[in-house]
Amino acid sequence: MEPRHLLTLADLAPDEIDDLLERARGLKADPATAARALYERSLLMIFEAPSLRTRLSFETAMTQLHGHAINYYTVHSPWGVGKESIEDVARTVSRYCDAVTARLYRHADLVALAEHARVPVINAMTDAGHPCQVLGDLLTLGEHLGDWRGWRMAYLGDARNNVTYSLMRAAALTRSDLAVACPADDRYAPAPEVRAEIDALTARHGGSVRVVSDPADALAGAEVVYTDSWMSYRVPENERETRLRDLASYRVREALFERAAPAAKFLHCLPASREQEVEAGVIDGPRSLVFEQAENRTHAQKALLLELLGG
Ligand code: CP
Repeated sequence: MEPRHLLTLADLAPDEIDDLLERARGLKADPATAARALYERSLLMIFEAPSLRTRLSFETAMTQLHGHAINYYTVHSPWGVGKESIEDVARTVSRYCDAVTARLYRHADLVALAEHARVPVINAMTDAGHPCQVLGDLLTLGEHLGDWRGWRMAYLGDARNNVTYSLMRAAALTRSDLAVACPADDRYAPAPEVRAEIDALTARHGGSVRVVSDPADALAGAEVVYTDSWMSYRVPENERETRLRDLASYRVREALFERAAPAAKFLHCLPASREQEVEAGVIDGPRSLVFEQAENRTHAQKALLLELLGG
């Protein structure tokens, strides 16, 4: 049987997201229900880019399920130094491990890995998306808004970005409304092919995604305000000054929350730079759910691992 992969959030149907998040909620409330569910199963975690949350949440998830996680940085691999093809890596690791997570810069590499793997492959972040982050975010929204469907969110800042892309897919798959505010500039706006994919997804499932240049327009009535780093792992340090200047009006400021709904929450996938994309008063204030998001990565990923590995 062909393995089931999670390469983008759109690999899950809306009812599968609901089932997965219900399971995650149950696992969070009573972790003992899945103890030993992945006993003696191994997860390989491939990293081409740095990680704190993704690595620790997947490793913790496997430990709590009595499985084992192997951390593997490509810089130390024959693949990373150009001595082995992705295809051979995929075939080889399938002989050792029961599933693979991969954080790779190029989504095309993840697709190639999945095409040749005989075990489930999970996107741990590529240039096309960060589905595991957004599953944890949806769990968080369910806890704080009462439902992970039907939310109204404003995303501000650099929107040529994997988290933004996964939020755009989530808006369609959970029939929610997302307004993305970013400069009208190819460096910061969602790529045309992603816009086309989202148009097709919203036409099929519902929800809406708007891309605007005025942050106040995006914030009007938003129940959730989300931003991400302006200096993602892929961005070279010599772009910092330009980005800080170009994105300055998209910083999530305390004053901007006046435009959002009265009890609006703040989300950020982390790592964050205070006083760049968000003011400290916001991320460290009472509206912020950023550490709930980080924790919920573990619960959502446990549900995902159980689903894909049949635990
Ligand atoms: N949000 C997130 O994926 O964090 P890390 O880069 O630390 O894994």
